[in-house]
Amino acid sequence: MSGLGVEAHGLRKAFGSAVAVAGLDLAVKWGEIFGLLGPNGSGKTTTIRMLTGLLEPSGGQARVVDIDVVASPERVRARIGYMSQRFGFYEDLTIEENIRFYGGVYGLTRRERRERIPQQLTRYRLDQRRKQLAGTLSGGWKQRLALACATVHRPDLVFLDEPTAGVDPASRQLFWNLIREDAAEGITVIVTTHYMDEAERCDRLAFLSRGHLIGVGTPAEITERFGLPTIEAVFIELQRRDDAELGLLA
Ligand SMILES: Nc1ncnc2c1ncn2[C@@H]1O[C@H](COP(=O)(O)OP(=O)(O)O)[C@@H](O)[C@H]1O
Ligand SMILES: [Mg+2]
Repeated sequence: MSGLGVEAHGLRKAFGSAVAVAGLDLAVKWGEIFGLLGPNGSGKTTTIRMLTGLLEPSGGQARVVDIDVVASPERVRARIGYMSQRFGFYEDLTIEENIRFYGGVYGLTRRERRERIPQQLTRYRLDQRRKQLAGTLSGGWKQRLALACATVHRPDLVFLDEPTAGVDPASRQLFWNLIREDAAEGITVIVTTHYMDEAERCDRLAFLSRGHLIGVGTPAEITERFGLPTIEAVFIELQRRDDAELGLLA
C-alpha cells in the first residue's frame, strides 16, 4: 500500500461561530497505533467524525486509507471500522447476533458471515457468552463486543473513540492486548483516550487542546517536550471532571 493511513492538511470544523477543530495536520503511518490525546472538548471526536466521512469538514483536506474522504466517504467507510464513544450495538440482541447484524451492515455475504462470526468471537474472547444478550454484559465485555462489531469486515484502519472509558483496569489491559494483536497484523489504529497510561501505549500521539494540535510525537517525546507536570495536570483535571460527572465529588 502506498501513502499513509491518514493524511490531513488544515482540517477544520466550525459549528456556527464555534471552532471545534482549528486546522489540523496529521500523518498516520500504516500499522501505527496513533493516539489523539486531549481534554474534553478539545476536538477529538469531531476529528474522528470528519475522518470517518460522517461529518463534512468546514475546510482542509483529508485522505484516509489513501482515499479522499470528502470526495468518496463511502469508499473510505468500506475500508475502516469505527467504535464510537457510545458503543453502537443492540442491547436486545446476543453477542453473536450483534456480530452477524454488523456483518450484514458491512455487506458480508452469508458465507463470509458464517466464517467470520466464530473468528470474531475467538479473536475478541467472546466465545463463552456468545448467546448472552448484549444489554446484560459488563463494561469490558461490551467494549470487546463493540470492537468485534467494528472490525467484522476486517478493515485496514480502525477508529476507537475513548474505548476504555468507564472500564475496569483488568478489562482495559485485555483490550489493549487485543488492539496490539490487531496492529501486529497490520491494522492501523487511531484511538482517543483520557488516560496517560494508555496514551503511553501508543506508538505516537497527537496532543490536542481547544481544537489545536499542540504537538505530535512518541509518548517519550511528548512527555519530554511538555513535561510530565503539564500532561499530569491535564489528566488530574480530566479525572476530577469524570469524578464530578459520576457524582463522586460534591
Ligand atoms: N454537533 C455539534 N454542534 C455544536 N458544537 C459541537 C458539536 N459537536 C461538537 N461540538 C463542540 O466542539 C468542541 C469539540 O467537541 P468534541 O470533538 O466532542 O471534543 P472531544 O471529543 O475532544 O471531547 C466542543 O466545544 C463541543 O461542544
Ligand atoms: Mg469525544
